[in-house]
Order: sequence, then structure tokens, then C-alpha cells
Amino acid sequence: MSSSSQAIVVCRQVSKRYRKGEIPVDALKRVDLTLNPGQLIAASGPSGSGKSTLLNLIGLLDQPSTGTIELFGQRSEVLKRKERQALRRKYLGFIFQNFNLLPVLNAVENVELSLYGHPLSKDQIRNQALAMLQQVGLLNRAYHYPKELSGGQQQRVGIARALVHKPKLVMADEPTANLDTGSATEIISLMRNLSHEIGTTFLVSTHDPRLIKNMDREVTLTDGVLLS
Ligand SMILES: Nc1ncnc2c1ncn2[C@@H]1O[C@H](COP(=O)(O)OP(=O)(O)O)[C@@H](O)[C@H]1O
Ligand SMILES: [Mg+2]
Repeated sequence: MSSSSQAIVVCRQVSKRYRKGEIPVDALKRVDLTLNPGQLIAASGPSGSGKSTLLNLIGLLDQPSTGTIELFGQRSEVLKRKERQALRRKYLGFIFQNFNLLPVLNAVENVELSLYGHPLSKDQIRNQALAMLQQVGLLNRAYHYPKELSGGQQQRVGIARALVHKPKLVMADEPTANLDTGSATEIISLMRNLSHEIGTTFLVSTHDPRLIKNMDREVTLTDGVLLS
């Protein structure tokens, strides 16, 4: 069997052209990339090099202009809208630069969002969300609202929300960009530990050298071209 048979993501010659205004932008150019289970991978590169575009395509939030992306053995371009949604909910998690917590929900309710649509009772959902908050060291803030938490604490809630349903792959788009050095370091080691404990693959876009040196693998984008 080929080595790609156990890969969770295979991108083949993936290109993305945005057509906004007069001049089209080629954000990704013929990207080949294979991701294996349980790895912590940095997608590095300067601002505008195509990192977010790559994460959005692999995360099924957008589609390539040309090329194919295989996710967990399924060709993504043949999936219907509902199937993409189901795949995202079951197998993927997302961590954002601005944390993206819902301000009207407290910490545990924000984490519970990832469990809706899963076959669980209300009590099971609450218990799993609380257990996940404990894993990120925030059980004592479960009933606090985002505005009552520091940036680092909000991102820990973000990580709990991204991992509570035990996804196979987590996309993290510049997760430490809005954090001070102390909180960034905490967030990095947390992702590292959880990825190894749960066996989740993390694809982390960043230009933060502190983050990159703690990763298992680095791929670099330059003007839409990927070097691995
Ligand atoms: N929705 C969009 N419409 C048009 N151009 C876009 C869009 N999103 C990103 N781009 C352009 O694509 C290129 C890559 O952007 P992006 O993937 O956001 O890079 P990065 O995350 O590395 O900063 C940039 O030139 C950016 O301006
Ligand atoms: Mg970006």
C-alpha cells in the first residue's frame, strides 16, 4: 500500500485564485501536501503568503480553483454541502486568532457548541465540556463569560471547544498572534500535550518562531508556493 493510504489529508496540485476586482490573486499555486495522523505541523510564511487560504481549503470552508483535496480518504470536491458540514462537525476542529467565543455564552456553553448534533444527552454534553475545560486548566472559570477572561484564558476555552468532540484534525489560524509571550508559551505547550494525548493532528498557521520550534514539522508558504 502507498504511504498516502494512512494519510488524513492529501492535497494534490491545489491552486486557489481569488477573483475580486480587476486583477485576480493566485493565493495558492499547485500545492502538494500530505498530513499524517498525530502530528503537530506549522504552516509558516509571511503575511499574504496563503496560510489562511490553505487552512480554509483543508477545513472545507472553501474550495480549490483546481486540484484535489482528499480528507480521511474522501475526495472533498464530490461532497455535497450537508456531507461537508457533517465531516466538519465530526472530524474537524478550529482555533482562531481572535478566539471567536460567543460573548453571550459562558465558557462551558461555548465548549458545548462543538457537541451539538452529536448523539449525546444534555448531561453528557455538560460533563464532557466540563472535563475538557479541566484538561485545559479552566474548570474554575467554567461559568465565566468571555469578557471576564484574559486573552490566554479565552484561547484555552477556544482550544477546549476545538477538541471536546475528539476531532482527527484541528486547524489553528495564528492562535498566538493576539497573546503576550507568557500566554503564547502556555497555549503552545497545551496544544502539544493535547495533540499527543488525544492523537489529534494540528495544522497551525503562524509566523511565530516560538511556536514553530515546538512543532514536529514545518511547511513554508512563499507567495502561494509551498516548500516542505
Ligand atoms: N477572499 C479573498 N478575496 C480576494 N483575495 C483574497 C481573499 N482572501 C485572501 N486573499 C488574498 O490571497 C493572498 C493570500 O491570503 P491569505 O491566505 O489570507 O494569506 P496569509 O494567511 O498567509 O496572510 C493575499 O494576497 C490576500 O490578499
Ligand atoms: Mg492569515
